Amino acid sequence: LELDLMSQDYKSIYGGWALVIGASEGLGEAMARDLAQRGMNVAMVARGEAKLRGAADRVASAFGVETLPIAADLADPNVLDVIRGGLGGREIGFLIYNCAAEFGGEFLDQALDRHLTNIQVNCVAPTVVLHHFAGEMTQRGRGGIVAVSSLAGVQGLYAWVTYGASKAYEMILGEGLWYELQHQGVNATAFMVGSTYTPNFQRNQVERNTLFAKSRTPDDLPSGIEPPQDPVDASAHLFAQIDREWLPQIYANPNDAEAALRYAALPRADRIRMMSDPMRRSWKGEEPGLA
Ligand SMILES: NC(=O)c1ccc[n+]([C@@H]2O[C@H](COP(=O)([O-])OP(=O)(O)OC[C@H]3O[C@@H](n4cnc5c(N)ncnc54)[C@H](OP(=O)(O)O)[C@@H]3O)[C@@H](O)[C@H]2O)c1
Repeated sequence: LELDLMSQDYKSIYGGWALVIGASEGLGEAMARDLAQRGMNVAMVARGEAKLRGAADRVASAFGVETLPIAADLADPNVLDVIRGGLGGREIGFLIYNCAAEFGGEFLDQALDRHLTNIQVNCVAPTVVLHHFAGEMTQRGRGGIVAVSSLAGVQGLYAWVTYGASKAYEMILGEGLWYELQHQGVNATAFMVGSTYTPNFQRNQVERNTLFAKSRTPDDLPSGIEPPQDPVDASAHLFAQIDREWLPQIYANPNDAEAALRYAALPRADRIRMMSDPMRRSWKGEEPGLA
């Protein structure tokens, strides 16, 4: 009950509006909902305008807050101007950088352009956006920042070489800001996300024809196969931890947090093979994998 009461008060803790970048479905929408539940108005960014407007309407009517859909592509080098134009002077007190370019496949099989898009959307754009909004937050002496990273970013990973490297960038970005900005009243974290049943995850599985694609819900998976997490649960874990304390890294799934401690002790080669061998078999169509 105590946490529930605290959790209603984000507007007075962080001020202004929340901005969720990549918010029209799945994990991004779940996090927008959790912010709205804590009393914040939410500006929501995605490329697809119709889907975004639908999500913004759902969040507004479910929680009685204002929402603002802003159609923008984070691969566009001028995206900060587009977002600022959409905001029309609204102050941002809480920012979640969620969207990602997620091109998978062996490094040399993919066109260079796809690798560069991974870097643009997952490294360059969060740097540009956070540099601007974190600056405004420190001037006001308060704010919250979440950089969404991935378990693909904690070791080299088959088929996700530049994606993984870009998510490592976001992890270290969030951690570094956690340290630097706390001295100016602003909180930050890297959100460590593992396999999550978002519509985007499901589309990727369909493309590769894995078992996850054939099973419509985690409950339909054969026993022994660890189900991906529900995005609503992933978001709930983030905000439950933020309500307690901002850590440099926050795990979406408590099981992953435990496993990370064990894996940290392994030699790098073992760790890379442990994650990459099943991934490689999955991509080669030999057995289902987890991403
Ligand atoms: N799902 C997983 O299994 C998993 C695992 C580890 C980490 N993660 C991380 O979790 C985050 C969310 O993952 P998810 O893909 O499953 O997505 P999601 O949060 O369910 O949806 C992604 C959102 O971002 C928007 N988006 C995508 N590219 C964009 C762009 N270039 N510019 C603006 N908006 C964009 C999408 O809408 P539009 O397409 O209309 O733009 C959508 O609203 C990502 O950072 C990902 O790296 C996910």
